[in-house]
Amino acid sequence: MNNPNIIEDFSSLVAGVDKEVPLLSGEKRRYVNLDNAATTPPFIDVINAIDTFAGWYSSVHRGTGYKSLISTKIYNQCRRVISDFVGADPDFHTVIFCHNTTDAINKICQCQCMDKNVVVLTTIMEHHSNLLPWRFCCNVDYVDLNPADGSLDLASMKDKLEFYKGRVRLVAVTGASNIAGFMPPIKEIARLAHQYGAKILVDAAQLIAHRTINMGRGDEPDHIDFLAFSAHKMYAPFGSGALIGPKECFRGGRPFIVGGGAVEIVTLDEVIWSEAPEREEAGTPNLFGALAVARAAQMLQKIGMERVAAHERHLTGLMLSLLKDIPGIKIYGDSDASLSRDRVSVIPILSERYNHALLAAILGYEWGIGVRHGCFCAQPYVVKLLNAEDPDAAQYVNQIINKDRGSLPGFVRISFGIYNTADDAEYLALALREIMKNGARFPYRLEKSAGEYFPLNSDIPLEHDFL
Ligand SMILES: Cc1ncc(COP(=O)(O)O)c(C=O)c1O
Repeated sequence: MNNPNIIEDFSSLVAGVDKEVPLLSGEKRRYVNLDNAATTPPFIDVINAIDTFAGWYSSVHRGTGYKSLISTKIYNQCRRVISDFVGADPDFHTVIFCHNTTDAINKICQCQCMDKNVVVLTTIMEHHSNLLPWRFCCNVDYVDLNPADGSLDLASMKDKLEFYKGRVRLVAVTGASNIAGFMPPIKEIARLAHQYGAKILVDAAQLIAHRTINMGRGDEPDHIDFLAFSAHKMYAPFGSGALIGPKECFRGGRPFIVGGGAVEIVTLDEVIWSEAPEREEAGTPNLFGALAVARAAQMLQKIGMERVAAHERHLTGLMLSLLKDIPGIKIYGDSDASLSRDRVSVIPILSERYNHALLAAILGYEWGIGVRHGCFCAQPYVVKLLNAEDPDAAQYVNQIINKDRGSLPGFVRISFGIYNTADDAEYLALALREIMKNGARFPYRLEKSAGEYFPLNSDIPLEHDFL
């Protein structure tokens, strides 16, 4: 289907969309998952691929038996699929499988930035996984945000690059914010970074399953040097992720993790490391994880990333326009329902009536809707978006030290995946309208140490057991 004005239904592609969950009222209801920025359900096709391959599974790179040869072949194919999916340059880039985005970013940090003279430029809108690694190994500075809406201030990035006069080794920026859905212009940033002799890392955790990524040829001025992402955010939750980076950056020195599989030869005094990717993948590889992420990439390619984007844009526009009409609900970041600026389907909201944790609990326990609340591992950005600067920020630190998370700042976050439908958006709007008007139907208690609300008198039986 090519008409971008028609909402499609991709719900049959993922596992579990028809699952019913118990509500506090005693009824059951189809679960509506609007927490895809945290993790996505698996594609059924991915589960089938794992199931079909299971009987052929064997050791990678280390056996001469047929199953081992097949396993090695599949593993190498998975790299090519990922390389193709992100538009990497096979002569320039290498694809390294890892556990997730966090693991991938730490790897880059260890191989590129273990030097207090190195400057890494990042932004205040980053997830902690793209903030903390830099802090402990090099000099880190933060690009400002536009005060009006919290989007990235490109002029500030240029000023900082100018200020450091060629000392910035890496610009580490998110491809899409996990809180406000903003998509910094990564190609423009890449061009700018290269002009100042820096490389660029794109944290693609929130981009990979939602927009086309084209890393580009290594000799193009706006190519992406490093890309990191997690498979569990792209319908393939089997413990893998990938780091794609320039081959030349993984030469010399020693790998992040050392051990079997990463070496050419070891004597008691000497070691010669393999070339990347093997040198960065010490230990037995996660073949099922690699297969899952490659299969998910093929599935997304088959659907077409433009179609994915069009579908999710529809849902986002619809959700924003529905939210705008609900008294007592405030949208943060960009609330433009016409989507004049492209964004991913992540929407932060707050209610006048209920704290974010309580609103999320009511949606879950009374309506069977899964959202996430809090700071989403991006505390500095949440504080910024809420204008809760010092001294409030210092006060929050004290509260956490005193094990009181009951009044910490945060949002309720709505995030769509390819399989969500207009019905899901409308059901959430119905629930929010009802909650804002008539309140919660059941009483809740706050567990201060967790910052979570639980039903006061009853609880929902967790009746599913898998062990
Ligand atoms: C933008 C962004 N970066 C990094 C991460 C970390 O991903 P993972 O926990 O899979 O390593 C997340 C996870 O939510 C994210 O949203």
